[in-house]
Amino acid sequence: MEIYEVLKRDHEEIKEFLNELVALDDDDEYRFVLIQEISNALIPHSRAEESVFYNTLRAVNADKGVVFHGYQEHMEAESLLRTLQVMDKVNMEWKPIANKLKDALEHHVEEEESDIFAEAYNAFSQEEAEVMAEAFERLKSEVEKEGPIQTTVDMVVNMMPPRIADKIRSFTDKGMNP
Ligand SMILES: [Fe+2]
Ligand SMILES: [Fe+2]
Repeated sequence: MEIYEVLKRDHEEIKEFLNELVALDDDDEYRFVLIQEISNALIPHSRAEESVFYNTLRAVNADKGVVFHGYQEHMEAESLLRTLQVMDKVNMEWKPIANKLKDALEHHVEEEESDIFAEAYNAFSQEEAEVMAEAFERLKSEVEKEGPIQTTVDMVVNMMPPRIADKIRSFTDKGMNP
């Protein structure tokens, strides 16, 4: 299996959760379960995607603008998700934020599967795409064990130029590279 299929499978899962979420009534407490499911699916996916897919593309000199745009959308989605997670505590309406998150992620997935995949099809052989799929799955299960602070730190480290990122990882002893 190649990295593209593995990423698409996750995207479909996340989109289904979002569809379910926005279809709920405003007072349906099942939203808490779904918001947690979205977080559990989205964050490990995004961290592993950045480390294995985005940064490998960056390293082979693909269009870096496309990759950084992807990073930016990960940040936006995660800040909406965090807002949604605290929403009830501050007594705000959660539906508009849920809709915003759904729209943002649908847009992100569409761009990823078109613009970023196009860069990758040019840059990687089939064999490389298969190796990346394995590395992605391995790293995803590592991220699943991490807490929210570590996954935020990981995002920032992932974005840095490789040499600086390696230095930080050697200090913190928290490797994100497979
Ligand atoms: Fe993705
Ligand atoms: Fe993504």
